[in-house]
Amino acid sequence: MRKAIIAGNWKMNKTMAETKAMITELAPLVSGADCDVVLCVPFTDLAAAKKAARGTNIKIGAENVHWAEKGAFTGEVSAAMLKELKVDYVIIGHSERRQYFGETDETVNKRVQAALAAKLKPIVCVGETETEREEGLTEKVLEKQLIEGLKGFKSKDFDKIVIAYEPVWAIGTGKTATAKDANETIGYIRKVLAKKFHKSIAEKTRIQYGGSMNTKNCKELMAEEEIDGGLIGGASLKAEDFAFIVNYNK
Ligand code: 13P
Repeated sequence: MRKAIIAGNWKMNKTMAETKAMITELAPLVSGADCDVVLCVPFTDLAAAKKAARGTNIKIGAENVHWAEKGAFTGEVSAAMLKELKVDYVIIGHSERRQYFGETDETVNKRVQAALAAKLKPIVCVGETETEREEGLTEKVLEKQLIEGLKGFKSKDFDKIVIAYEPVWAIGTGKTATAKDANETIGYIRKVLAKKFHKSIAEKTRIQYGGSMNTKNCKELMAEEEIDGGLIGGASLKAEDFAFIVNYNK
């Protein structure tokens, strides 16, 4: 029904030379994958990544995109610039962008609009912090991020939009949500999509889990019914580990 999607988020890692080496090593290891395979890489690595991935089943994504067409936005990159590089995906609203760079649900919404207009597939990140979780606010936080971040999008947009549920306390910490917890929370996200958007949208939208997903826990997480994939940080930096996760069902 929903095709699984395993995506790497390299964050601020790897030079162009390292990009070429990693993709060259990775390509034969993932060529038989049943899921969509994506690597989201730094802007400076996109051209090298596209070149190295040519003729393979690896799709390339960026890690952010600005909403304006062009203009005085020092340090930003537009959707048209990504499109010209033939980038397929773009991560939007990652918790590190929210935490360190002032990303809000409103700017997430604008970035998703710009991405869709350029026919890029947005991977929209949502997730609660540790404090929010402890205070029992997880559902409230997720509902707000979903309603405001995805406001105004139509059913056909959700053929392209992927949602990544990344509990902030699980990112880079080695702490993972248990497969059962992750499944339950992603089930809740689907409930919000059904209630605030449409039942058919809830059914078709692919929702990934992210946060210390690795070779040890990927099979268990991917076995859960609601989890359609993973957004992988640390474990996406080594070809062998990332390939293992991509081949979770082999
Ligand atoms: P880690 O897999 O390193 O915890 O990072 C997860 C993440 O933030 C992916 O976007």
